[in-house]
Amino acid sequence: MAIRPYENKDKEAVRYVCLNCDGPCDMSENAQHFILSTYCDYFIEQEPQNCFVAADENDKAVGYIICAENYDSFIEVFRKEYFTRIPEEDTVHRFYASQSTLLQEKYKDEYPAHFHIDIMPEYQRMGLGQKLIHILLKHLKEKNVRGVMLSVSTENEKGVNFYKKCGFTLLEHTSGSEAYGMTL
Ligand SMILES: CC(C)(COP(=O)(O)OP(=O)(O)OC[C@H]1O[C@@H](n2cnc3c(N)ncnc32)[C@H](O)[C@@H]1OP(=O)(O)O)[C@@H](O)C(=O)NCCC(=O)NCCS
Repeated sequence: MAIRPYENKDKEAVRYVCLNCDGPCDMSENAQHFILSTYCDYFIEQEPQNCFVAADENDKAVGYIICAENYDSFIEVFRKEYFTRIPEEDTVHRFYASQSTLLQEKYKDEYPAHFHIDIMPEYQRMGLGQKLIHILLKHLKEKNVRGVMLSVSTENEKGVNFYKKCGFTLLEHTSGSEAYGMTL
C-alpha cells in the first residue's frame, strides 16, 4: 500500500470510495448525488493539491483524505458551484447540504481547514487512516495553516474513536454530531 498525493486519474476511484466506504452503496440516485456534491467533488476538483490517497498494489485508490484549507474560500465556491448541483426540488438534500458546513463555519477562525477521510471496508483498521492523517497534517503545517477540524456523526463510533486516537480535541458535542479540532 502506498500513501501518495491525489492525481486526476484517481477521480472515479475516490468517488467510488466515498459512496462505498460503509459497505456496498444502496442509496438512491438523489442521495448519491447529494453525498458526492457535498462531501467529495469540491475537494478533488478545487483543491486537489490538498488531497491524498491510499493506493493498492495496482495503484488504485482504496482510501483518501480530502481537505479544504481555508473555510472562507471553500464556502464561496461550494455555495455557488456544488450546493447548486443538488436539484432545487430536492429540498431535503439541499437542507442537509446547508447544515453540513455549520460547524466548520463556527470554528473557522481557529481551525480554517477541514477534511473528510474514507477507506474501503476491506482496508480499514490497517493503520491507513492514521497514515493519511499524518501526511495531511504535515502538508498543512508546511503551508502554515493554523488549525484543522472535522465533524462526525455521534453514531459513528469507529470515526469518533479514530479521531480521538489521532489526537484531535473534542470541540463540541451536539445530539447528532461532534466537532473535533487540532491546532497545527
Ligand atoms: C474511520 C476510518 C477513516 C479510520 O481509518 P482506519 O484506517 O480504519 O483506522 P486505523 O487503522 O488507522 O485505526 C486507528 C484507530 O482508529 C480507531 N478505530 C479504527 N477502526 C475502528 C473500529 N472498527 N472500531 C473502533 N475503533 C476503530 C482505533 O482507535 C484505531 O486504533 P487501534 O487499531 O490501535 O485500536 C475508517 O474506518 C473509515 O473509512 N470508516 C468508514 C467511513 C468513516 O466513518 N469515515 C469518517 C467519517 S467522519
